[in-house]
Amino acid sequence: KPHLRTRSFGRRMQYQECVPSTQLLAHEWAKEGAEEGSLVITEEQTDGKGRMNRIWHSPPHSGIWMSLVLRPPIPVTEAPQLTLMASVAVTRTLRRETGLDVTIKWPNDLLVGGKKICGILTELRGEQDRVQYVVLGIGINVNVTPDFLPKELESIATSLAIEGGRTFQRPLLIAAILKELEEVYEGYLDHGFEPIRILWEEAAGMLGRIITAQTPEGPRRGEAVGLASSGALLLKTEEGTLPVYSSDIQI
Ligand code: BTN
Repeated sequence: KPHLRTRSFGRRMQYQECVPSTQLLAHEWAKEGAEEGSLVITEEQTDGKGRMNRIWHSPPHSGIWMSLVLRPPIPVTEAPQLTLMASVAVTRTLRRETGLDVTIKWPNDLLVGGKKICGILTELRGEQDRVQYVVLGIGINVNVTPDFLPKELESIATSLAIEGGRTFQRPLLIAAILKELEEVYEGYLDHGFEPIRILWEEAAGMLGRIITAQTPEGPRRGEAVGLASSGALLLKTEEGTLPVYSSDIQI
């Protein structure tokens, strides 16, 4: 907290030594009326959640495992833009604070040297077609050492410490992320998605690359050429430029 320079993000905070998942706690808190910017943060998760029901490995005292409550006045259909907004804010902060070459793999994986360093999970509760609240979960492998990475993750995951060759102070990183997130979020509420879209295109390391996307219609191969205002990834294929929505992509 002494490092925090935000207006609302992280001003209300629940800090826990060990929880199953900060997402669940933040959902409960939001249902009880937690205001925008309320933050749940923990040293360790025993049941960390990733996208698509995957497990998020969250060893003690070495990562940033946190969930932020947001209450954006937007329709549910625009909520995917928040994930992109968050990946832009975290990428910019990590680049600035660590000097590492962090890139975004659409929609929300942050990579260093092709390996995952951070994952973002946005879960929302809507009422009719309006967003009631969003729980924005951010997991960053900060000082995770190789012996804490399970064998099956070795080739796909890494940490800031492994890549940077030194440890990083988590409180400073958390304060910097919350500050950047708040600024980018306020910009989004005031000016819409277009400025985020441009920042995202700058931060993404994948534009111009040939990728394969698993779409509901089957795999599609093409060049990643940009981000649509809907948040979809634009893929230039032989059949024309297609928007790709939620799917896994291979670089
Ligand atoms: C992904 O890449 O699949 C998203 C991973 C999100 C992990 C974070 S850690 C803090 C928050 N609590 C959870 O249980 N998950 C998110």
